[in-house]
Amino acid sequence: MPTRAWFPTFLYHEPLQARGLDRFNAELADECRRIREFDAAGRKWSEKNYPGGYTSYASLNRLHEFSSTFAGLERKLTAHVRKFARELDFDLRGREIHMTDFWVNIMPEHAAHSLHLHPNAFMSGTYYVVTPPGCPGLKFEDPRLSRFMAAPPKIANVRPTNKTHITYPAKAGWVLLFESWLRHEVATNRTNEERISVSFNYNWS
Ligand code: NI
Repeated sequence: MPTRAWFPTFLYHEPLQARGLDRFNAELADECRRIREFDAAGRKWSEKNYPGGYTSYASLNRLHEFSSTFAGLERKLTAHVRKFARELDFDLRGREIHMTDFWVNIMPEHAAHSLHLHPNAFMSGTYYVVTPPGCPGLKFEDPRLSRFMAAPPKIANVRPTNKTHITYPAKAGWVLLFESWLRHEVATNRTNEERISVSFNYNWS
């Protein structure tokens, strides 16, 4: 073949652990709902900045320092982040990686989260806690999209690696990792049940 792919964008998708996810997620969901009840500042912030839903992104955003459940989850997530970093050939010898932010997202019916990226981090991700059947996944955008100034449209049966968007399904118990500069969004939740996830950022030093 005369053509080869260069500069790919990688996404990491893997179950958190092999066993015990149902019980763990039920406990984590209860804790996420308790955090929403307790976090008046976050509910107020969400009214303006996360319409129809609740996020602790601006109020309780270091939950790994505040809750033993989240601290335990941080340790498991860090193992996945290290695995992904190895896939990306990052040289972490003599360097530390740290979770800098860890927050809750609850999206009831009609809630959506528009296109964004995660500043001040090198790797980010989401762990899915409650995912009602038919709830929206996480949609990623080709980071080169703004440079495709004069490209013709893609054919209907475009090959996966040539797509300009990819949506990963939200699956309870699964970890989804991406590099923090990669823009993504969540479409409107059209189910009548809450979709719950926790999101996090990592940095290194
Ligand atoms: Ni995000």
